[in-house]
Amino acid sequence: MANGRKLKLGAIIHGVGGNMAAWRHPDIQADASVSFEFYTKQARKAEEGKFDLVFIADGLFINEKSIPHFLNRFEPITILSALGAVTSKIGLVGTLSTSYSEPFTVARQFASLDHISGGRAGWNVVTSPLEGSALNYGKKEHPSHDLRYKIAEEFLEVARGLWDSWEDDAFVRDKASGVFFDPDKMHRLDHKGQFFSVQGPLNIARSKQGHPIVFQAGSSDSGRTLAAKTADAVFTGHESIEDAKRFYQDVKTRAAAFGRSADDILIFPGIGPIVGRTQEEAERKYEEIANLMTIENALNYLGRFFDHFDFSPFPLDKPFPDLGDIGSNSFRSTTDKIKQTAKEQRLTLRQVALQTATPKGQFIGTPEKVADLVQQWFEEKAADGFIIHSSVPGGLDDFVELVVPILQKRGIYREEYESDTLRGNLGLSKPENRYTLARRTPQDFVKSC
Ligand SMILES: Cc1cc2nc3c(=O)[nH]c(=O)nc-3n(C[C@H](O)[C@H](O)[C@H](O)COP(=O)(O)O)c2cc1C
Repeated sequence: MANGRKLKLGAIIHGVGGNMAAWRHPDIQADASVSFEFYTKQARKAEEGKFDLVFIADGLFINEKSIPHFLNRFEPITILSALGAVTSKIGLVGTLSTSYSEPFTVARQFASLDHISGGRAGWNVVTSPLEGSALNYGKKEHPSHDLRYKIAEEFLEVARGLWDSWEDDAFVRDKASGVFFDPDKMHRLDHKGQFFSVQGPLNIARSKQGHPIVFQAGSSDSGRTLAAKTADAVFTGHESIEDAKRFYQDVKTRAAAFGRSADDILIFPGIGPIVGRTQEEAERKYEEIANLMTIENALNYLGRFFDHFDFSPFPLDKPFPDLGDIGSNSFRSTTDKIKQTAKEQRLTLRQVALQTATPKGQFIGTPEKVADLVQQWFEEKAADGFIIHSSVPGGLDDFVELVVPILQKRGIYREEYESDTLRGNLGLSKPENRYTLARRTPQDFVKSC
C-alpha cells in the first residue's frame, strides 16, 4: 500500500448507459434515465460500497443521432438534490457548463445542494463541446475551445468569490438582540472581469465544506491547466496505464507550478469494469452489449465527439479519413486521441467507430483480476481513484459486491466513511474564508513579533 493513501471511488449514474444500443438488452430498465427509483437504487448501492461520490454527466444539445440516454434524462442539480434526501454519506457531483450559465446562479445552486446534503456537493466543471448548444441559449455562436476555457477560469474565480460572501460565523440569529447577521462578516465581491460582472454577496451562507468540491472534465492542454490551477479533482479517460501515468504526472506537476501540493488535486480516470465469475463469463457480458451495436449507430456515436460530424459518406473499410481540424473545437482531447490512434494503428473507419462505440477496456475478468488492475493503477500513480461506469447490466452491483471487498481486504480502500462531507472523505482540506484569513493575518503577525 502506498503511504496510507486510500483509493477513492465514484459511480457515474447514467440511466440506460453511455452506449447507443444497451437499452435493448433484456436486463436494462428501458426508462432508467428518467427513473428516480433507478437513480436511488444506484446511489444507495454506491453508498453501500462506501463510494466517495455519485457523478452525473450532462450535455446541452441533442439531435436524432444522440445516444438514447442523452435524449431523455434528468438535469443534474435536480436529481442530486433528490438523491441527497435518500442517502446520507455519499458525495453528490453534478456537471454544469461554464459556457452557458451565470456564475451567480451556479454558485447559488451548488451552495444550496451543499447545505441540503450536509456538505456533500461537488461540481463537475465542463465547457460544453457541442456547437449546437448555442442554439438552445440564444447565442449567435458557440465560443471557441480556447475562449471557453478562458470563460471557465473567470467563472470559477467568481463562483469561489461568491462562496466566500459570508464568513462562517456571519449568521448570529440572536433573537434577544434582534441581530440576524454580523454586517462585518458579509462581503460583496464587486467582480468586474472580461466576461462577468457580479456584485454579490451570494444569498446563501457557506456550508460545512466551505466550498463545494470542484471537478474538472477536459483533458486538453487548456483543460489540464485549468484543473491544475483551480480544481480539487479531475475526471479523465485513458486506455493504457502508461497514458494514465503520464496524465497524472503532468497534472500534478502543473499544480505544483501553481504553488499547490500534488495531494491538493485528485485524478479520477473513468473505467467501465466488467466482472464475471470467470474471464469467459465477463467476455460474454461484453459481447451481449457489443452485439447490439450496428455500424450506423457506431458512426453516430463517433460523430458526436467531432461535433456530430457525418461519417456516413466515407468508405467503412478504408483508412480512417484525414479530418484536419474537425473535432478540435469540440471534444478536443478525445478527438486528438482518436485521430492519433487511428493513424498509429492504421485503423479503418469501421474499426475506429466500433472501438469507440463499444470499448472493451482492460478492466474485464474475474473480481481478482479487476481488483489487481485497480490496485496497480492506484499504486503506480496512474490514478488516485476511479469513476466507475456501468457498461453492462448490473455493472455497479458486481463491482460493489465482488471487487470492493477484495480492495478492502487488501487495505487500499475504506471499510467505513471517514467523514460526513465529500471533502472530508476525499481527504481535502476546507478552504478558509478569504476575509477571515485576511482579518486574522495581521494579528498573527503581531503575535509572532
Ligand atoms: C472524461 C471527460 C468527461 C467529460 N464530461 C462532460 C460532460 O459530462 N458534459 C459536457 O458537456 N462535457 C463533458 N466533457 C467535455 C469537456 O468539458 C470539454 O467541453 C471538451 O472535452 C473539450 O475539452 P478538452 O478538449 O479539454 O477535453 C468531458 C470531457 C472529458 C475528457
